Amino acid sequence: MSEDVDAESHEAEPVETVSPKKKYEFIEDLPGVGPATAQKLRELGYHTVESLAMATARELEPVGVSEKKSFAIIGAARSAIGISFVRADELYKMRQTVLRLTSGSKALDGILDGGLETQTITEFYGEYGSGKSQICHQLCVNVQLHPERGGLNGAALYVDTENTFRLERIVQMAKHLGLDPEQVVKNIIYAEAYTSDHQMFLLENADEVIKANNVKLIIVDSLTAHFRSEYVGREMLAPRQQKLNKHMHKLIGLARAFNAVAVVTNQVMAKPDVFFGDAVHPIGGHIVGHTSHTRVYLRRASHGPVRIARLVSSPYLPEGEEILKVTENGIEDVSEEEKASRSRGR
Ligand SMILES: Nc1ncnc2c1ncn2[C@@H]1O[C@H](COP(=O)(O)OP(=O)(O)OP(=O)(O)O)[C@@H](O)[C@H]1O
Ligand SMILES: [Mg+2]
Repeated sequence: MSEDVDAESHEAEPVETVSPKKKYEFIEDLPGVGPATAQKLRELGYHTVESLAMATARELEPVGVSEKKSFAIIGAARSAIGISFVRADELYKMRQTVLRLTSGSKALDGILDGGLETQTITEFYGEYGSGKSQICHQLCVNVQLHPERGGLNGAALYVDTENTFRLERIVQMAKHLGLDPEQVVKNIIYAEAYTSDHQMFLLENADEVIKANNVKLIIVDSLTAHFRSEYVGREMLAPRQQKLNKHMHKLIGLARAFNAVAVVTNQVMAKPDVFFGDAVHPIGGHIVGHTSHTRVYLRRASHGPVRIARLVSSPYLPEGEEILKVTENGIEDVSEEEKASRSRGR
């Protein structure tokens, strides 16, 4: 049965990358997936055709089917949601399906070229109290806004590793935007991760929840805290990076499959040997750096609500720096008057 799948996946027309045809709705509908295989796939965290399309044959090894069959299943899933080789001009069309989510600050949106992108990961890193979790809370509210107001008309999934999520903050922010707090709260799916393995497990099994609830924002706050405390010492560095890499790979797969914004937060470590430039760097080093496409460094301006956001790396945008405020209302712009008084040194 799986043999005719290959032929089908070659047939997929590139333009389908933009408007997927829903040929297979459930994983059992895929050629070569019987009830037993479907069961094993679910145990591995593949509940949807979308997540299977992002899998690799190696990841399907524990299912116990041949490599050829794994390729066939993945190929069918890909053709179903319309992923295939594309020409560069079609890539352009794909880019047009990227949506943007407002951060709440026009200034920050500006350095991000209009807001946080779907299909990629945005990382906020900075010291304790720099506003990373505050931005995450604000995004959970903003994602529910109509696109005309910078939202994505969708729900949020919040993976919390440090028990920092506060409903009270969501209610304050929702009220400020004139939204019904009760409704807003219903559209945030919350999961606390107790260990790094649990954190990975949650994402590995998130595809169904994302699909059923129209989740358009996936947050992991903090990405690195558990990894940092569990993998201590030099010899643990390699396994830690490997796991982090896998975790990020899963996240980017979900963001692409469901056209969602993915956000992670990260603390910073002091660099003892740096005399010039920034003496801090985000935890997780280069692996996290390479997979998270857009990185924003947050820091306190001085005492008070003002924060400095610097776009440190992006696949296509120049570096940039802007200021914003964390207030009772949430993430806000700093007014011109406030800027003027800041530059007068107050
Ligand atoms: N209701 C509020 N009104 C005004 N400012 C607030 C309010 N709640 C939080 N803040 C501000 O946000 C700060 C906390 O920021 P946040 O929790 O986002 O830090 P973080 O970067 O996530 O830190 P960590 O690394 O510890 O997770 C507080 O110190 C305060 O300045
Ligand atoms: Mg935090």
